[in-house]
Amino acid sequence: MPSGLYRGRLRRGPSPTALRFVSSLEQDLAFLDEELEATRAHIVMLCEGGLLTRQEAGALLKALEAARGSARRARGYEDIHELVEAEVTKRAGEVGLKLHMARSRNDQAATITRMKARRELLRLASLCCSLCSTLLRLGKRHARLPLIYYTHLRPAQLGSLGHYFLAQAEALLRDVERALEGYERANLCPLGAAACAGTSLPIDRRRTAQLLGFHGPLANSLDAVTSRDFVLDALHAAACTLVDLARLAEDLALWGGPEFGLLELGEATSFSSSIMPQKKNPDVLELIRAKCALISGLYSSLAGLLKGLPSGYNRDLQEVKPLLAGLREAQRALSVMSEVLRGVRPHDGLERRARASEALAPELVEWLTLQGVPFRRAYSLVAELMRELASRGRGFASLGDEEMKWLLREAQLPERLLSELRRALEPGSALARRRSEGSPNPAEVDRLARALRARLRELLRSVKGRQEQEARARLALEMEARALLQA
Ligand code: ARG
Repeated sequence: MPSGLYRGRLRRGPSPTALRFVSSLEQDLAFLDEELEATRAHIVMLCEGGLLTRQEAGALLKALEAARGSARRARGYEDIHELVEAEVTKRAGEVGLKLHMARSRNDQAATITRMKARRELLRLASLCCSLCSTLLRLGKRHARLPLIYYTHLRPAQLGSLGHYFLAQAEALLRDVERALEGYERANLCPLGAAACAGTSLPIDRRRTAQLLGFHGPLANSLDAVTSRDFVLDALHAAACTLVDLARLAEDLALWGGPEFGLLELGEATSFSSSIMPQKKNPDVLELIRAKCALISGLYSSLAGLLKGLPSGYNRDLQEVKPLLAGLREAQRALSVMSEVLRGVRPHDGLERRARASEALAPELVEWLTLQGVPFRRAYSLVAELMRELASRGRGFASLGDEEMKWLLREAQLPERLLSELRRALEPGSALARRRSEGSPNPAEVDRLARALRARLRELLRSVKGRQEQEARARLALEMEARALLQA
Protein backbone atom coordinates (compact mmCIF):
# COMPACT_ATOMS: atom_id res chain seq x y z
CA MET A 1 0.00 0.00 0.00
CA PRO A 2 1.27 3.50 -0.75
CA SER A 3 2.17 5.24 2.48
CA GLY A 4 0.97 8.67 1.47
CA LEU A 5 4.03 10.06 3.29
CA TYR A 6 4.70 12.55 0.55
CA ARG A 7 1.15 13.54 -0.39
CA GLY A 8 1.14 16.77 1.63
CA ARG A 9 0.41 19.15 -1.20
CA LEU A 10 -1.58 16.67 -3.26
CA ARG A 11 -4.99 15.48 -2.21
CA ARG A 12 -5.06 12.19 -4.06
CA GLY A 13 -2.45 9.53 -4.63
CA PRO A 14 -0.77 9.09 -8.01
CA SER A 15 -2.45 6.81 -10.51
CA PRO A 16 -1.16 3.24 -10.43
CA THR A 17 0.35 3.75 -13.88
CA ALA A 18 2.18 6.91 -12.83
CA LEU A 19 3.39 5.35 -9.59
CA ARG A 20 4.66 2.27 -11.40
CA PHE A 21 6.45 4.48 -13.88
CA VAL A 22 8.05 6.69 -11.25
CA SER A 23 8.83 4.06 -8.64
CA SER A 24 12.43 2.92 -8.37
CA LEU A 25 11.64 0.53 -5.55
CA GLU A 26 12.60 -2.65 -7.35
CA GLN A 27 16.01 -1.42 -8.46
CA ASP A 28 16.53 0.34 -5.11
CA LEU A 29 16.43 -2.95 -3.23
CA ALA A 30 20.03 -3.54 -4.30
CA PHE A 31 20.78 -0.50 -2.12
CA LEU A 32 18.89 -1.68 0.95
CA ASP A 33 22.00 -2.25 3.07
CA GLU A 34 23.33 1.20 2.22
CA GLU A 35 19.98 2.85 2.98
CA LEU A 36 19.68 1.14 6.36
CA GLU A 37 23.25 2.00 7.26
CA ALA A 38 22.85 5.65 6.27
CA THR A 39 19.60 5.87 8.24
CA ARG A 40 21.26 4.32 11.24
CA ALA A 41 24.07 6.89 11.13
CA HIS A 42 21.48 9.66 10.80
CA ILE A 43 19.66 8.46 13.95
CA VAL A 44 22.90 8.16 15.94
CA MET A 45 23.96 11.67 14.91
CA LEU A 46 20.54 13.18 15.71
CA CYS A 47 20.70 11.63 19.16
CA GLU A 48 24.25 12.83 19.85
CA GLY A 49 23.16 16.33 18.87
CA GLY A 50 20.21 16.23 21.25
CA LEU A 51 17.57 16.17 18.52
CA LEU A 52 16.43 12.73 19.72
CA THR A 53 16.51 11.33 23.24
CA ARG A 54 18.37 8.07 23.71
CA GLN A 55 15.04 6.28 24.15
CA GLU A 56 13.68 7.76 20.94
CA ALA A 57 16.82 6.83 19.03
CA GLY A 58 16.65 3.31 20.46
CA ALA A 59 13.04 2.93 19.39
CA LEU A 60 13.83 4.14 15.87
CA LEU A 61 16.78 1.82 15.55
CA LYS A 62 14.71 -1.11 16.71
CA ALA A 63 12.02 -0.37 14.16
CA LEU A 64 14.72 0.06 11.52
CA GLU A 65 16.07 -3.40 12.24
CA ALA A 66 12.58 -4.85 11.96
CA ALA A 67 12.04 -3.05 8.66
CA ARG A 68 15.05 -4.85 7.20
CA GLY A 69 13.11 -8.11 7.21
CA SER A 70 9.93 -6.84 5.58
CA ALA A 71 11.54 -4.44 3.10
CA ARG A 72 11.93 -6.96 0.29
CA ARG A 73 8.25 -7.80 0.33
CA ALA A 74 6.99 -4.21 0.38
CA ARG A 75 5.16 -2.80 -2.65
CA GLY A 76 3.65 0.47 -3.77
CA TYR A 77 6.32 2.90 -2.61
CA GLU A 78 8.06 5.48 -4.73
CA ASP A 79 11.45 4.37 -3.58
CA ILE A 80 13.50 2.79 -0.84
CA HIS A 81 13.60 6.03 1.16
CA GLU A 82 9.83 6.20 1.42
CA LEU A 83 9.69 2.51 2.16
CA VAL A 84 12.13 2.67 5.06
CA GLU A 85 10.58 5.76 6.62
CA ALA A 86 7.05 4.31 6.30
CA GLU A 87 8.05 0.91 7.66
CA VAL A 88 9.88 2.46 10.60
CA THR A 89 6.95 4.75 11.37
CA LYS A 90 4.53 1.85 11.16
CA ARG A 91 6.49 0.07 13.87
CA ALA A 92 7.81 2.89 16.01
CA GLY A 93 4.59 4.93 16.11
CA GLU A 94 4.77 8.59 17.06
CA VAL A 95 8.56 8.80 17.26
CA GLY A 96 8.75 7.63 13.65
CA LEU A 97 7.56 11.10 12.70
CA LYS A 98 10.95 12.45 13.80
CA LEU A 99 13.10 10.21 11.60
CA HIS A 100 13.25 12.41 8.55
CA MET A 101 14.18 15.73 10.20
CA ALA A 102 17.20 17.43 8.66
CA ARG A 103 17.44 15.07 5.72
CA SER A 104 15.88 14.68 2.32
CA ARG A 105 15.56 11.90 -0.18
CA ASN A 106 17.89 13.99 -2.29
CA ASP A 107 20.87 13.79 0.03
CA GLN A 108 19.92 10.19 0.92
CA ALA A 109 19.88 9.07 -2.71
CA ALA A 110 23.25 10.71 -3.36
CA THR A 111 24.62 9.10 -0.20
CA ILE A 112 23.64 5.52 -0.97
CA THR A 113 24.89 5.93 -4.53
CA ARG A 114 28.26 7.05 -3.21
CA MET A 115 28.38 4.20 -0.70
CA LYS A 116 27.68 1.66 -3.42
CA ALA A 117 30.13 3.25 -5.86
CA ARG A 118 32.84 3.08 -3.19
CA ARG A 119 32.25 -0.58 -2.51
CA GLU A 120 32.08 -1.59 -6.17
CA LEU A 121 35.20 0.41 -7.02
CA LEU A 122 37.18 -1.36 -4.32
CA ARG A 123 35.99 -4.74 -5.60
CA LEU A 124 36.95 -3.72 -9.10
CA ALA A 125 40.39 -2.61 -7.92
CA SER A 126 40.90 -5.77 -5.95
CA LEU A 127 39.96 -8.05 -8.88
CA CYS A 128 42.23 -6.05 -11.20
CA CYS A 129 45.04 -6.70 -8.71
CA SER A 130 44.38 -10.47 -8.77
CA LEU A 131 44.41 -10.56 -12.55
CA CYS A 132 47.57 -8.51 -12.51
CA SER A 133 49.38 -10.99 -10.33
CA THR A 134 48.29 -13.84 -12.65
CA LEU A 135 49.73 -11.85 -15.57
CA LEU A 136 52.92 -11.24 -13.63
CA ARG A 137 53.37 -14.94 -13.00
CA LEU A 138 52.87 -15.66 -16.70
CA GLY A 139 55.22 -12.82 -17.57
CA LYS A 140 58.02 -14.35 -15.56
CA ARG A 141 57.34 -17.89 -16.75
CA HIS A 142 57.51 -16.93 -20.45
CA ALA A 143 60.15 -14.19 -20.30
CA ARG A 144 62.34 -16.06 -22.78
CA LEU A 145 59.70 -17.40 -25.13
CA PRO A 146 59.93 -15.49 -28.44
CA LEU A 147 56.67 -14.17 -29.83
CA ILE A 148 56.06 -12.26 -33.01
CA TYR A 149 54.51 -8.86 -32.29
CA TYR A 150 52.15 -7.34 -34.80
CA THR A 151 51.31 -3.87 -36.00
CA HIS A 152 48.38 -3.52 -38.42
CA LEU A 153 47.99 -7.23 -37.67
CA ARG A 154 51.10 -7.91 -39.80
CA PRO A 155 54.37 -9.28 -38.37
CA ALA A 156 56.31 -6.34 -36.94
CA GLN A 157 59.10 -7.06 -34.45
CA LEU A 158 60.20 -9.92 -32.30
CA GLY A 159 58.97 -9.80 -28.72
CA SER A 160 58.34 -12.38 -26.04
CA LEU A 161 55.23 -13.91 -24.56
CA GLY A 162 56.39 -12.87 -21.08
CA HIS A 163 56.88 -9.27 -22.15
CA TYR A 164 53.43 -9.37 -23.75
CA PHE A 165 51.78 -10.48 -20.51
CA LEU A 166 53.61 -7.76 -18.57
CA ALA A 167 52.30 -5.17 -21.02
CA GLN A 168 48.77 -6.24 -20.11
CA ALA A 169 49.66 -6.07 -16.42
CA GLU A 170 50.90 -2.48 -16.83
CA ALA A 171 47.53 -1.49 -18.28
CA LEU A 172 45.63 -3.23 -15.51
CA LEU A 173 47.68 -1.50 -12.84
CA ARG A 174 46.56 1.80 -14.31
CA ASP A 175 42.99 0.51 -14.04
CA VAL A 176 43.57 -0.14 -10.35
CA GLU A 177 44.85 3.42 -10.00
CA ARG A 178 41.82 4.76 -11.82
CA ALA A 179 39.46 2.80 -9.59
CA LEU A 180 41.22 4.14 -6.49
CA GLU A 181 41.10 7.71 -7.80
CA GLY A 182 37.38 7.24 -8.46
CA TYR A 183 37.06 5.91 -4.94
CA GLU A 184 38.61 9.06 -3.47
CA ARG A 185 36.13 11.28 -5.28
CA ALA A 186 33.15 9.11 -4.35
CA ASN A 187 34.21 8.92 -0.74
CA LEU A 188 32.60 12.15 0.48
CA CYS A 189 29.26 12.35 2.25
CA PRO A 190 26.25 14.35 0.96
CA LEU A 191 24.11 13.74 4.09
CA GLY A 192 22.98 16.91 5.80
CA ALA A 193 22.71 18.83 2.54
CA ALA A 194 18.97 18.22 3.00
CA ALA A 195 17.01 19.01 -0.18
CA CYS A 196 19.77 21.26 -1.53
CA ALA A 197 20.46 24.13 0.87
CA GLY A 198 21.11 22.58 4.27
CA THR A 199 19.10 22.86 7.46
CA SER A 200 18.60 25.14 10.44
CA LEU A 201 18.51 22.12 12.77
CA PRO A 202 21.71 21.59 14.75
CA ILE A 203 23.12 18.57 12.92
CA ASP A 204 26.74 17.42 12.65
CA ARG A 205 27.62 16.55 9.07
CA ARG A 206 31.13 15.57 9.99
CA ARG A 207 29.82 13.02 12.40
CA THR A 208 27.48 11.27 9.92
CA ALA A 209 30.28 11.28 7.38
CA GLN A 210 32.58 9.67 9.93
CA LEU A 211 29.98 7.10 11.02
CA LEU A 212 29.62 6.00 7.41
CA GLY A 213 33.36 5.75 6.86
CA PHE A 214 33.48 8.71 4.46
CA HIS A 215 36.55 10.88 4.29
CA GLY A 216 34.35 13.86 5.25
CA PRO A 217 31.22 15.73 4.16
CA LEU A 218 30.88 17.20 0.66
CA ALA A 219 31.71 20.85 1.01
CA ASN A 220 28.71 22.48 -0.69
CA SER A 221 25.11 21.38 -0.05
CA LEU A 222 23.94 22.18 -3.58
CA ASP A 223 26.83 20.29 -5.13
CA ALA A 224 26.21 17.44 -2.70
CA VAL A 225 22.72 16.68 -4.09
CA THR A 226 23.44 17.63 -7.72
CA SER A 227 26.74 15.96 -8.53
CA ARG A 228 26.98 12.51 -10.06
CA ASP A 229 30.33 12.92 -11.78
CA PHE A 230 31.67 10.34 -9.32
CA VAL A 231 29.50 7.79 -11.17
CA LEU A 232 31.04 8.94 -14.44
CA ASP A 233 34.43 8.35 -12.81
CA ALA A 234 33.37 4.91 -11.68
CA LEU A 235 32.02 3.95 -15.11
CA HIS A 236 35.14 5.35 -16.71
CA ALA A 237 37.26 3.13 -14.49
CA ALA A 238 35.08 0.14 -15.41
CA ALA A 239 35.07 1.00 -19.11
CA CYS A 240 38.86 1.43 -19.24
CA THR A 241 39.29 -1.89 -17.47
CA LEU A 242 37.05 -3.54 -20.03
CA VAL A 243 38.89 -1.88 -22.92
CA ASP A 244 42.05 -3.49 -21.57
CA LEU A 245 40.33 -6.83 -21.06
CA ALA A 246 38.79 -6.68 -24.54
CA ARG A 247 42.20 -6.20 -26.15
CA LEU A 248 43.60 -9.13 -24.20
CA ALA A 249 40.50 -11.13 -25.14
CA GLU A 250 40.92 -10.30 -28.81
CA ASP A 251 44.61 -11.26 -28.80
CA LEU A 252 43.91 -14.56 -27.10
CA ALA A 253 40.95 -15.36 -29.33
CA LEU A 254 43.04 -14.72 -32.45
CA TRP A 255 46.19 -16.46 -31.26
CA GLY A 256 44.24 -19.38 -29.85
CA GLY A 257 42.53 -20.12 -33.18
CA PRO A 258 43.94 -22.50 -35.81
CA GLU A 259 44.92 -19.68 -38.20
CA PHE A 260 47.41 -18.10 -35.81
CA GLY A 261 47.92 -21.26 -33.79
CA LEU A 262 50.21 -19.60 -31.26
CA LEU A 263 48.57 -20.93 -28.15
CA GLU A 264 45.91 -23.28 -26.85
CA LEU A 265 42.98 -22.06 -24.79
CA GLY A 266 41.74 -24.19 -21.91
CA GLU A 267 38.66 -26.36 -22.32
CA ALA A 268 37.08 -24.97 -19.16
CA THR A 269 36.54 -21.62 -20.84
CA SER A 270 35.83 -22.84 -24.39
CA PHE A 271 32.52 -23.78 -25.99
CA SER A 272 31.51 -25.93 -28.91
CA SER A 273 28.91 -25.89 -31.65
CA SER A 274 25.59 -27.68 -32.02
CA ILE A 275 26.37 -28.71 -35.61
CA MET A 276 30.11 -28.34 -36.26
CA PRO A 277 31.96 -30.99 -34.29
CA GLN A 278 35.38 -29.45 -34.92
CA LYS A 279 34.58 -26.28 -32.99
CA LYS A 280 36.41 -25.01 -29.95
CA ASN A 281 35.10 -21.48 -29.66
CA PRO A 282 36.32 -18.64 -27.43
CA ASP A 283 32.81 -17.52 -26.38
CA VAL A 284 34.02 -16.16 -23.04
CA LEU A 285 36.49 -13.86 -24.78
CA GLU A 286 33.88 -12.70 -27.26
CA LEU A 287 31.47 -11.80 -24.48
CA ILE A 288 34.17 -9.82 -22.69
CA ARG A 289 34.53 -7.77 -25.88
CA ALA A 290 30.76 -7.26 -25.97
CA LYS A 291 30.61 -6.19 -22.32
CA CYS A 292 33.22 -3.59 -23.10
CA ALA A 293 30.94 -2.01 -25.69
CA LEU A 294 27.95 -2.07 -23.36
CA ILE A 295 29.75 -0.57 -20.36
CA SER A 296 31.34 2.15 -22.47
CA GLY A 297 27.78 2.84 -23.62
CA LEU A 298 26.70 3.34 -20.00
CA TYR A 299 29.29 6.06 -19.66
CA SER A 300 27.90 8.00 -22.60
CA SER A 301 24.31 7.38 -21.45
CA LEU A 302 25.16 8.97 -18.14
CA ALA A 303 27.04 11.88 -19.66
CA GLY A 304 23.96 12.46 -21.84
CA LEU A 305 21.65 12.26 -18.85
CA LEU A 306 23.68 14.70 -16.76
CA LYS A 307 24.34 17.18 -19.53
CA GLY A 308 21.99 20.11 -19.27
CA LEU A 309 20.26 19.12 -16.02
CA PRO A 310 19.58 22.21 -13.96
CA SER A 311 21.33 22.45 -10.60
CA GLY A 312 19.64 20.79 -7.65
CA TYR A 313 17.93 17.41 -7.58
CA ASN A 314 15.95 16.28 -10.63
CA ARG A 315 14.17 12.96 -10.91
CA ASP A 316 16.34 12.07 -13.92
CA LEU A 317 19.03 11.33 -11.35
CA GLN A 318 17.04 8.31 -10.20
CA GLU A 319 18.22 6.53 -13.34
CA VAL A 320 21.85 6.89 -12.27
CA LYS A 321 22.00 4.33 -9.47
CA PRO A 322 21.29 1.24 -11.61
CA LEU A 323 24.20 2.16 -13.89
CA LEU A 324 26.56 1.05 -11.15
CA ALA A 325 25.65 -2.51 -12.15
CA GLY A 326 28.17 -1.87 -14.94
CA LEU A 327 30.92 -2.19 -12.35
CA ARG A 328 29.72 -5.63 -11.44
CA GLU A 329 29.86 -6.66 -15.09
CA ALA A 330 33.46 -5.50 -15.20
CA GLN A 331 34.18 -7.48 -12.05
CA ARG A 332 32.67 -10.60 -13.58
CA ALA A 333 34.76 -10.12 -16.70
CA LEU A 334 37.91 -9.82 -14.57
CA SER A 335 37.14 -13.04 -12.70
CA VAL A 336 36.47 -15.05 -15.83
CA MET A 337 39.59 -13.64 -17.55
CA SER A 338 41.67 -14.97 -14.65
CA GLU A 339 40.26 -18.41 -15.40
CA VAL A 340 40.98 -18.08 -19.12
CA LEU A 341 44.59 -17.18 -18.38
CA ARG A 342 45.02 -20.16 -16.10
CA GLY A 343 44.13 -22.38 -19.07
CA VAL A 344 46.39 -20.77 -21.68
CA ARG A 345 49.23 -22.97 -23.01
CA PRO A 346 51.68 -21.63 -25.60
CA HIS A 347 52.30 -24.00 -28.50
CA ASP A 348 55.65 -25.72 -28.82
CA GLY A 349 56.33 -24.18 -32.20
CA LEU A 350 56.62 -20.56 -31.04
CA GLU A 351 60.41 -20.50 -31.26
CA ARG A 352 60.33 -22.06 -34.72
CA ARG A 353 57.66 -19.62 -35.89
CA ALA A 354 59.74 -16.68 -34.68
CA ARG A 355 62.84 -17.97 -36.48
CA ALA A 356 60.97 -18.06 -39.78
CA SER A 357 59.21 -14.74 -39.42
CA GLU A 358 59.80 -11.58 -41.41
CA ALA A 359 59.46 -9.84 -38.04
CA LEU A 360 63.24 -10.42 -37.95
CA ALA A 361 63.81 -7.98 -40.83
CA PRO A 362 64.23 -4.99 -38.46
CA GLU A 363 66.86 -7.11 -36.70
CA LEU A 364 68.89 -7.23 -39.91
CA VAL A 365 68.63 -3.47 -40.33
CA GLU A 366 69.78 -2.78 -36.77
CA TRP A 367 72.65 -5.23 -37.02
CA LEU A 368 73.89 -3.44 -40.13
CA THR A 369 73.42 -0.09 -38.43
CA LEU A 370 75.53 -1.27 -35.52
CA GLN A 371 78.27 -2.16 -38.03
CA GLY A 372 78.35 1.47 -39.07
CA VAL A 373 76.01 1.38 -42.09
CA PRO A 374 73.79 4.50 -42.02
CA PHE A 375 70.30 3.47 -40.92
CA ARG A 376 68.38 4.52 -44.03
CA ARG A 377 70.87 2.78 -46.27
CA ALA A 378 70.64 -0.43 -44.21
CA TYR A 379 66.86 -0.18 -44.34
CA SER A 380 66.89 0.15 -48.14
CA LEU A 381 69.19 -2.84 -48.58
CA VAL A 382 67.00 -5.06 -46.44
CA ALA A 383 63.86 -3.72 -48.12
CA GLU A 384 65.36 -4.68 -51.48
CA LEU A 385 66.03 -8.16 -50.18
CA MET A 386 62.46 -8.44 -48.87
CA ARG A 387 61.06 -7.29 -52.21
CA GLU A 388 63.14 -9.87 -53.98
CA LEU A 389 61.94 -12.66 -51.68
CA ALA A 390 58.32 -11.58 -52.07
CA SER A 391 58.54 -11.48 -55.85
CA ARG A 392 59.70 -15.10 -55.85
CA GLY A 393 57.04 -16.13 -53.36
CA ARG A 394 59.66 -17.05 -50.78
CA GLY A 395 59.45 -16.63 -47.02
CA PHE A 396 61.97 -14.98 -44.73
CA ALA A 397 63.14 -18.34 -43.48
CA SER A 398 64.46 -19.18 -46.93
CA LEU A 399 67.15 -16.46 -46.77
CA GLY A 400 70.33 -18.32 -47.61
CA ASP A 401 74.05 -17.59 -47.34
CA GLU A 402 74.06 -16.23 -50.89
CA GLU A 403 71.61 -13.46 -50.02
CA MET A 404 73.39 -12.71 -46.77
CA LYS A 405 76.69 -12.39 -48.60
CA TRP A 406 75.04 -10.07 -51.09
CA LEU A 407 73.84 -7.94 -48.19
CA LEU A 408 77.33 -7.77 -46.65
CA ARG A 409 78.85 -6.86 -50.00
CA GLU A 410 76.30 -4.14 -50.69
CA ALA A 411 76.88 -2.77 -47.20
CA GLN A 412 80.65 -2.88 -47.81
CA LEU A 413 81.20 -5.23 -44.88
CA PRO A 414 83.64 -8.17 -44.87
CA GLU A 415 82.26 -11.62 -45.62
CA ARG A 416 83.74 -13.03 -42.43
CA LEU A 417 80.89 -11.35 -40.56
CA LEU A 418 78.48 -13.87 -42.08
CA SER A 419 78.26 -16.15 -39.05
CA GLU A 420 77.79 -13.20 -36.74
CA LEU A 421 75.01 -11.95 -38.99
CA ARG A 422 73.39 -15.38 -38.89
CA ARG A 423 73.59 -15.40 -35.10
CA ALA A 424 71.98 -11.97 -34.95
CA LEU A 425 68.91 -13.55 -36.48
CA GLU A 426 68.56 -16.19 -33.79
CA PRO A 427 65.44 -15.22 -31.83
CA GLY A 428 67.16 -15.76 -28.48
CA SER A 429 70.15 -13.63 -29.31
CA ALA A 430 67.96 -11.03 -31.02
CA LEU A 431 66.03 -10.57 -27.77
CA ALA A 432 69.20 -10.57 -25.67
CA ARG A 433 70.64 -7.77 -27.80
CA ARG A 434 67.73 -5.41 -27.18
CA ARG A 435 69.19 -2.52 -25.23
CA SER A 436 66.40 -0.05 -24.66
CA GLU A 437 64.55 0.35 -21.38
CA GLY A 438 61.20 -1.47 -21.42
CA SER A 439 62.19 -3.83 -24.27
CA PRO A 440 61.64 -7.61 -24.28
CA ASN A 441 65.26 -8.34 -23.41
CA PRO A 442 64.76 -11.14 -20.87
CA ALA A 443 66.82 -9.30 -18.25
CA GLU A 444 64.69 -6.24 -18.80
CA VAL A 445 61.53 -8.36 -18.58
CA ASP A 446 62.72 -9.59 -15.18
CA ARG A 447 63.33 -6.03 -14.06
CA LEU A 448 59.90 -4.93 -15.32
CA ALA A 449 58.29 -7.79 -13.46
CA ARG A 450 60.02 -6.79 -10.22
CA ALA A 451 58.96 -3.17 -10.59
CA LEU A 452 55.38 -4.22 -11.37
CA ARG A 453 55.30 -6.50 -8.36
CA ALA A 454 56.39 -3.66 -6.08
CA ARG A 455 53.73 -1.31 -7.49
CA LEU A 456 51.11 -4.04 -7.24
CA ARG A 457 51.98 -4.66 -3.58
CA GLU A 458 51.63 -0.93 -2.90
CA LEU A 459 48.26 -0.72 -4.63
CA LEU A 460 46.98 -3.85 -2.89
CA ARG A 461 47.90 -2.23 0.41
CA SER A 462 45.81 0.83 -0.52
CA VAL A 463 42.83 -1.34 -1.52
CA LYS A 464 43.03 -3.40 1.67
CA GLY A 465 43.53 -0.29 3.80
CA ARG A 466 40.36 1.25 2.43
CA GLN A 467 38.39 -1.97 2.79
CA GLU A 468 39.51 -2.24 6.40
CA GLN A 469 38.67 1.37 7.08
CA GLU A 470 35.13 0.82 5.74
CA ALA A 471 34.77 -2.32 7.85
CA ARG A 472 35.98 -0.47 10.96
CA ALA A 473 33.44 2.32 10.38
CA ARG A 474 30.66 -0.24 9.92
CA LEU A 475 31.61 -1.93 13.16
CA ALA A 476 31.85 1.36 15.07
CA LEU A 477 28.39 2.37 13.82
CA GLU A 478 27.04 -1.02 14.81
CA MET A 479 28.40 -0.52 18.36
CA GLU A 480 26.91 2.97 18.64
CA ALA A 481 23.57 1.62 17.48
CA ARG A 482 23.73 -1.30 19.88
CA ALA A 483 24.43 1.00 22.82
CA LEU A 484 21.35 3.04 21.94
CA LEU A 485 19.21 -0.06 21.47
CA GLN A 486 19.99 -0.99 25.04
CA ALA A 487 19.21 2.48 26.39
N1 ARG B 1 14.13 7.81 -5.71
C1 ARG B 1 14.82 9.06 -5.85
C2 ARG B 1 16.23 8.80 -6.46
O1 ARG B 1 16.67 7.70 -6.43
C3 ARG B 1 14.97 9.72 -4.55
C4 ARG B 1 14.91 11.20 -4.54
C5 ARG B 1 13.58 11.72 -4.84
N2 ARG B 1 13.50 13.10 -4.50
C6 ARG B 1 12.50 13.86 -4.91
N3 ARG B 1 12.52 15.06 -4.57
N4 ARG B 1 11.57 13.38 -5.69
O2 ARG B 1 16.87 9.67 -7.00
